[in-house]
Amino acid sequence: MPESFPPGFLWGAATAAYQIEGAAQEDGRTPSIWDTFSHTPGKVLGGDTGDVAVDHYHRMRDDVRMMADLGLTAYRFSVSWPRVQPTGRGPAVQRGLDFYRALTDELLAGGIRPSLTLYHWDLPQELETGSISGSAAGGGWPARDTAYRFAEYAGLVAEALRDRVELWTTLNEPWCSAFLGYGSGVHAPGRTDPVAALRAAHHLNLGHGLATQALRAALPGRARIGVALNPSAVRPLTQAPGDVDAARRIDALANRVFTGPMLTGEYPADLLADTAHLTDWSFVREGDMATAGQRLDVLGINYYAPTVVSAAGAGEGSRRDGHGASDHSPWPGSESVTFHQPPGELTAMDWSVDPTGLYDLLMRYAHESPGTTLMITENGAAYDDKPAPDGSVHDPDRIRYLHGHLSAVHRAIADGADVRGYFLWSLMDNFEWAYGYSKRFGAVYVDYETQVRTPKSSAGWYGKVARTGELPEPPVG
Ligand code: FCB
Repeated sequence: MPESFPPGFLWGAATAAYQIEGAAQEDGRTPSIWDTFSHTPGKVLGGDTGDVAVDHYHRMRDDVRMMADLGLTAYRFSVSWPRVQPTGRGPAVQRGLDFYRALTDELLAGGIRPSLTLYHWDLPQELETGSISGSAAGGGWPARDTAYRFAEYAGLVAEALRDRVELWTTLNEPWCSAFLGYGSGVHAPGRTDPVAALRAAHHLNLGHGLATQALRAALPGRARIGVALNPSAVRPLTQAPGDVDAARRIDALANRVFTGPMLTGEYPADLLADTAHLTDWSFVREGDMATAGQRLDVLGINYYAPTVVSAAGAGEGSRRDGHGASDHSPWPGSESVTFHQPPGELTAMDWSVDPTGLYDLLMRYAHESPGTTLMITENGAAYDDKPAPDGSVHDPDRIRYLHGHLSAVHRAIADGADVRGYFLWSLMDNFEWAYGYSKRFGAVYVDYETQVRTPKSSAGWYGKVARTGELPEPPVG
């Protein structure tokens, strides 16, 4: 029996502004922290930058047509903050907003639901470093003011696109912004200060809450507002108490640091205790928790692979946690936890292929956020795709990956999780952050020399799933 999904289930693909748009200096756009970071030698593999990326800014109409041809019913994209509000404060640049007006018009005309993410990591550089004129203090996410800047920007985008977009996401993966950006430093802005990382996490929670308020004030009642987290499906290596405690610590720092404030209106006591030697958390002010805990219409889950941990030194440990190499840990106060590569199949990121992690997360958040719709806002895999002599690109591994994960989603829905959509990461190959263009996540292959797009076999497979709402039999070979 084919596995059928509920009617109206959204079949989408996801991208992010800095990873695809290019046009880094056009129409008034100013640098974001990712422009600065990628132009800093040694930060991104091969010295790659998003200056041109896959030139989506100039190829947007063709790209939307491609999505419609594939049969997608939804598209998750992000707005480039420095394109619409270059300094991170003040009025919006209309030319920047016009691009997103045109994009959403094209999507709607093609029968594709736009799902807009306000922040996919491209903070205006001025909000990090402060302006030369002195009008902006800077400080990035560790600075409280950034949360208020974010809410102002959210209001500007909402005013401009309120009649076109119903699905709104405040932040993408605030864990990465806080702990990779300010902790391990493998992401922009590349700072390595554990306390700054914790402060950033709090101001991201606050910014999410303030932005949600700004969106609700500006948008019609039918709008649905959410956040896209990358919760870890954390598993202890063994049931030994030390390993179980390591899993608890990472669950606090990866997951509950955000779902605590957002879903329950408080930080977990164990997180505060685990980090008490670093900070007293006095940057949390009265009223912040109520602000962060705004009602969520949608909880977006980005999932790639589970996380296996043990106590320090237990088993065959390594510092590898799948987020790039750094001498600095992204886990403040829990630096000694050891991360393990689970046995079994790996993707080109060396991430393990294990759909049970996705199932577990969906069931967990179905229980922890009753009344909130769940969406898989990202899921997918990188493989070393290469065109065949005839130009076609076959990616059976990706089809198997998608099949396994969609089957896990189907099982979670059957077991009661209210999941309403799935967004494949990614529509097309693009700039994979610290890995540059070396990792291909797309369902569509991009030749970076010519910018020619070629749908891989997974794109055809996924399009058929989108059109029929059914998973075919598992592919063989
Ligand atoms: C997620 C990011 C996304 C992409 C995938 C592979 O962490 O949100 O932009 O890079 O990983």
